[in-house]
Amino acid sequence: MKRLSVAIDGPAGAGKSTVARQVAENLGLTYVDTGAMYRAVTWKALQKQADLHNEEEITRIAREADIRLTPGQNGMDVWVDGKKVTEDIRTPEVTSNVSAVAGMPGVRQALVEKQRQMAVAGGVVMDGRDIGTHVLPDAEVKVFLTASIEERAQRRFKEMKRKGYSVDLDQLREEIRRRDEMDSNREHSPLRAASDAVHVDTTNRSLEEVIQTILNLCRTKV
Ligand code: C5P
Repeated sequence: MKRLSVAIDGPAGAGKSTVARQVAENLGLTYVDTGAMYRAVTWKALQKQADLHNEEEITRIAREADIRLTPGQNGMDVWVDGKKVTEDIRTPEVTSNVSAVAGMPGVRQALVEKQRQMAVAGGVVMDGRDIGTHVLPDAEVKVFLTASIEERAQRRFKEMKRKGYSVDLDQLREEIRRRDEMDSNREHSPLRAASDAVHVDTTNRSLEEVIQTILNLCRTKV
């Protein structure tokens, strides 16, 4: 099979990572979760008690961080400077700070370089906010995954509860809305569908159905 590049973008909680991981597995491609990379930088900045408003300092952290994504037991493991941070990057503290960090042009530049290196040989399914528009504008398949805010909040609620967090649905809905707003309105590479992306609304659709839709799109490109 040709070394396809597949870009999957969309707002928080639309199911991008679950879908992207399974599409990658099915096609024998490498899955790259770019949100995990922004989270890794945010986690490291919080660990270092860095000033989260100081772009120079946070950009340095982003440049120096050795971020690795490896296949793990439940999908993918995330490593920062040799430490496994798979769970640590999903805490509410990281989640509530990540969009501010991701809005910094220096941070984006550092991570986009790393992302393009990962995709240089093709054969990737990459998910994020700016993959089809900016990171991989020549990707053969571009998908913009959405779902109603209610459904996205419900999915996050179940996921967080499963992980043992005590969460409030209204608070989660508000957190998702705020993150979407920040991600959509930032100056650099905001959350946008590429003009050539196929829109897939996952509200009331099963995971299997969504995966098949994307696999069918991929099959037309090989
Ligand atoms: O995908 P996930 O929700 O884990 O992403 C966390 C955050 O990382 C997003 O809310 C966004 O601020 C940022 N992000 C980004 N560009 C990407 C991927 C994620 O700005 N390509």
